[in-house]
Amino acid sequence: MATAQSMMEVQKKTRADKQRSWFEDAIFYQIYPRSFNDTNGDGVGDLGGILEKVNYLKSLGITALWLSPFFPSPMEDFGYDVSGYCDVDPIFGTLEDFDRLIRTCHSSDIKMVIDFVPNHTSQHHPWFVESRKNKTNPYADWYIWADPKPDGSVPNNWTCVTTGSAWTYVKARHQYYLHSFLSAQPDLNWRNPEVREAIFKAMRFWFERGVDGLRVDMIDFLIKDEFLRDEPDPDYRFKTSVRHMNQPQMRDIVADMHALAREYGDRVIIGEINSELSVAQTVSYYGKPGNRQMDVPFNFVLMRQPLEAAAINATLREFEELLPDHAWPNHTWGNHDVPRVATRFGVEKARLAALILLTLRGTPFLYYGDELGMEDVKLTRDQIQDPWEFRQPGRGRDPNRTPLPWTAGARNAGFSSVDPWLPVGADNEARAVDTQLGNSASLHTFYRDLIALRQATPALLKGDQKLLEAPKDVVAYERNLEGERCIVIVNLGTTPISPGSLPFGIKGCMFSTAGPEPAKHVSRVLDAGHGGIFSA
Ligand code: NOJ
Repeated sequence: MATAQSMMEVQKKTRADKQRSWFEDAIFYQIYPRSFNDTNGDGVGDLGGILEKVNYLKSLGITALWLSPFFPSPMEDFGYDVSGYCDVDPIFGTLEDFDRLIRTCHSSDIKMVIDFVPNHTSQHHPWFVESRKNKTNPYADWYIWADPKPDGSVPNNWTCVTTGSAWTYVKARHQYYLHSFLSAQPDLNWRNPEVREAIFKAMRFWFERGVDGLRVDMIDFLIKDEFLRDEPDPDYRFKTSVRHMNQPQMRDIVADMHALAREYGDRVIIGEINSELSVAQTVSYYGKPGNRQMDVPFNFVLMRQPLEAAAINATLREFEELLPDHAWPNHTWGNHDVPRVATRFGVEKARLAALILLTLRGTPFLYYGDELGMEDVKLTRDQIQDPWEFRQPGRGRDPNRTPLPWTAGARNAGFSSVDPWLPVGADNEARAVDTQLGNSASLHTFYRDLIALRQATPALLKGDQKLLEAPKDVVAYERNLEGERCIVIVNLGTTPISPGSLPFGIKGCMFSTAGPEPAKHVSRVLDAGHGGIFSA
C-alpha cells in the first residue's frame, strides 16, 4: 500500500482562478440512437424518439448528450460506416428532426456532442465508389491504395481490428485498399490535403448547426506510415503499433481539429483513442498548454479494471500522477463497445461503480441504460446483427446495445410498436423506467440523487482530489474546495470496516448505497459492499 506521503504527492489541485469550460462541469450520457426510443414504428430508435425523452434526461440530471452516429449509412457497422457526412439517415429522421432535437436540448440546458467518424467512410460513400473505379479519377488518391507484392499478395503485414489482413483487393485498380476495421470501411488518406479539407468542411457543417462538440472516432488512426512499411512485430496490437497508427503527424491534425472547434467558441473535441493505450499514452493527447490537442482524450483505464480496490486505487493513482496540470480528467465504465457495467460487476455492485464514477474528479460519461442496471442480453444466433460477431465469435457488441425498456408490461417494453432490431432484455419489467421512477430504492433514483448531489456540491464537481490511505479492499479519496471537504469511501471487500479503523476522520454521511437517510446508518455505509460520501 502506498504511504500517506506518497498519497500526498498525487493530490491534484483545481485552480480556483481557472476559466472552466462547460464540459468540465458536465455529466455526459451516451445514447446509441438505434436502441433508445422508436417513434416511427420500424423497430429502430430515432431522433424523434430522443426528442420525446428529453424530459427524462433532464430529470435524471445529465447535462450533456453524446449521440452515436445517425448519418446516412448502409449500417454495415451500424453507422460507423458513413456514406454522407452532412445529413441524417432516414431511419433516424431528417436534418429538421436534428435541429428540433438540439434546440430542445439547448433550451433544457443540455449540451449536444455528436459522433464524427473521419478515419474511414462506408464502402458505399460516393468518394469511395469513385475512388475504386481506376487510378485516374478525381478521388483516386482519397483512400489508401497500394500495389500487390510481386507475388500478388497484400502490401504489408497490417491487420484489421477483427484480425486478418487490413487489405482488400480491387480488380479494377489491380490494387489493395486499406481498412483498419471492416472491409466495408475503407480508410481515408489523410495525407491528401483534399481529404483534410473535405472532412474539416463536414466538421464545420455540424458546428454551424450548433453542436457543442464532436466525439471523434479512432482519432489515433488518422495517419499511417508514409511508406506503408511492415509492423516490426507481426503480432502487434494497436497499442504497440509503430507504423499502422500512432504516427507523430497525426498530432498536428488533432491540434488543427481543436483549433477549428475553438473558432466556434467553447466547443470541444473528445477523442476516441485506442482503448488499450497506457495511461501515459492516453494523457499525452491533452497536448501542451500552448499546443492543445483534445479537450477530452477518452480515458478508458477504469473500463479495463475489475471492481476491485487494489486495481482501482493503482489506476487512479497512476492517472493523477501522469495527468498534466492544464488537463481536466474524464472517467467512464463503459460504452457501446464493451459489456455493460451491471453484467461485468453484477447489478448489486452497479451502485458502487456509479458512486465512484460520479464522485471522482473528472467529467463522468454514462452509457444509456446503466442508470437502470440494464444487463447484456444473450442472443440466439439468428438475432445477431454485429458483423464483428460473425468474423470473431465473442467480439460482437449486440448484447450491450439492446433497446432501453421504458414501460413494464408494454409491448417491447414500450421501446417500439414492432419487433425491435435487437431483443429487449428478459428482465425488462424490473429494469423499466416506469418501474424505477419514483421508487426510492431503485437504481435510477440512486443515480438521480447522486447526480443532483454532485452538481450541487462544488467540492465534488470541481474540487481537488487526494487519494487516501485506506484499509485493504477499500477505495477512499477526499474532494476539497475552498474549505468544503467530502470523503468518499467505498468498501469493495467482504468484511465491514469500523470508522475507528480509518486513518482519517469522517463526520456525517451525506449519501450512501445503504438507502435514503444515510445519517441514520453510518455504520451500515461501511459494511461490505457499501459506500458513501461523508463530510469531513
Ligand atoms: C470505434 C467505435 O466505437 C466502434 O463502435 C466502431 O466499430 C469503430 N470505431 C469503427 O468505427
